[in-house]
Amino acid sequence: MDFASDFLIIGSGIAGLSFALKAATLGTVTLVTKKSRIDSATNLAQGGIAAVLAADDSFEMHIQDTLRAGAGICNQDIVRLVVENGPDRLKELMALGVAFNQKEQGATLDLTREGGHSARRIAHAFDLTGHEIERCLLASAASNPRITIFENHCAVDLLLASKAGLADPGEGDSCLGAYVLDSMSGAIHTFQAKTTVLCTGGCGKVYLYTTNPDIATGDGVAMAYRAGAKVANLEFVQFHPTCLFDPKAKNFLISEAVRGEGGRLINKAGQPFMAKYDSRGDLATRDTVARAIDNELKTSGDDSVFLDITHKPADFVKTRFPNIYQTCLVYGIDITRQPIPVVPAAHYMCGGVLTDAMGRSSIPNLYAFGETACTGLHGGNRLASNSLLEAVVFAHQSFRQCQNDWPRLHAQSQPKVPQWDPGQAARIKECVLITHNWDQIRRLMWNYVGIVRSEKRLSLVQARLAPIVKEVDQHYQDYLLTPDLVELRNIATMADLIVSSARLRKESRGLHYIVDYPRQNDEEWRKYTVLRQGEDPEFLPVD
Ligand code: SIN
Repeated sequence: MDFASDFLIIGSGIAGLSFALKAATLGTVTLVTKKSRIDSATNLAQGGIAAVLAADDSFEMHIQDTLRAGAGICNQDIVRLVVENGPDRLKELMALGVAFNQKEQGATLDLTREGGHSARRIAHAFDLTGHEIERCLLASAASNPRITIFENHCAVDLLLASKAGLADPGEGDSCLGAYVLDSMSGAIHTFQAKTTVLCTGGCGKVYLYTTNPDIATGDGVAMAYRAGAKVANLEFVQFHPTCLFDPKAKNFLISEAVRGEGGRLINKAGQPFMAKYDSRGDLATRDTVARAIDNELKTSGDDSVFLDITHKPADFVKTRFPNIYQTCLVYGIDITRQPIPVVPAAHYMCGGVLTDAMGRSSIPNLYAFGETACTGLHGGNRLASNSLLEAVVFAHQSFRQCQNDWPRLHAQSQPKVPQWDPGQAARIKECVLITHNWDQIRRLMWNYVGIVRSEKRLSLVQARLAPIVKEVDQHYQDYLLTPDLVELRNIATMADLIVSSARLRKESRGLHYIVDYPRQNDEEWRKYTVLRQGEDPEFLPVD
């Protein structure tokens, strides 16, 4: 079946929904999401959204904190753009009904602090900020007659003018929408659009342990790469220092705001250890804290370290962190009386589809934002709570660009595109083919491409991944598509891209720490690593 609209958005988190609400003022919007609309990383975000709101804060301070965290490779113009837009975008969210915590009813916002921030600047809704934002955005989208949401619809690949035989000679390629799998019926539909937007979130599921929801399989980046878009900085995978360590818990995050409110990291013997690693102690940036914990665990042989907030009044802890308090209680930990066992886990992809300041990718009519994009804001390491901010700012930037292009877009007719051709594909009879590859990739990435890397392990993993990637590609040809097969193909692509990018960067910087090159080498490496299918890697200077 064919569906057509002015805008196709893939993903239902803060980035996709914020853009949908704005784009609907121009034309018709179709939003596809592969599970239910609430299944997004946004919905799980605990910490908050950073913006300069306090009298003792300034744009310059937020900019400097972001640049310092980004380890010398942030795009300074983008950092300024995002930071200076923060207060306006936050007001828009509040106007939609997002209830951030206030100091007292009707008074100023209650701002919290996280690692790497020199001021309190994080607006939050208890420890359920993302859930509150998602609730409001979904409610607004649901009541908008120009927005149609397709749940259980999993994007497979982008529809390109070249593949459809519709590219004008000499004009280059452009994106015409996407092929999308209806997970319930198994049918693959064409979703055509004048503008396609990738907001599929991150790729934490490439790793065995992650704070991400199950949907985080790098779909947007993998699809964009296969379509010929440039992707950048994929070696910079952020590991969150504090994920609950409990065999029964499924990767539950303990927000950095716990440290922002005074929580301390301690070892099994009860000794604090962060001061040994950084003068900012427990509030150092995430790359430093995750590496410190990794070192403590490797040295001691212990299973976890601990996050201790027992010195704070129990009532404060229960009120400020109701979600964390209740969830830990389920696993038998009363955080007002006991330290919380924690370990690092894959959390955020700082690289992604390379975009400009308006959210445009290198393929015309294809945009990317949110965790799917590499806008230049995060550089080598994302500052905590800058990601929800980046998503709303780039949703706005992209909307402004579409508004500008609207007379041309509006006048365009949509060409007839070919239907999905399943070839000789048959129904898969042995799903173990998928689950086995899935497990292999995630284990390899965890053990070989984690917080601390080495040339030896990177070269071994590249050799081991190659046949798996080939095998998965063969499954993709041989079998009728299922959501599991689509996701497997995407994590295989992402694993391969992360390893290729990590092998290119011959230095340690931000989140990419490699024992063979322990120093940051600014003379040679203040660059982005850029990959494009079928081409040699490109190294893009930062300034
Ligand atoms: C957290 O609450 O620690 C996560 C916030 C973020 O990743 O920015």
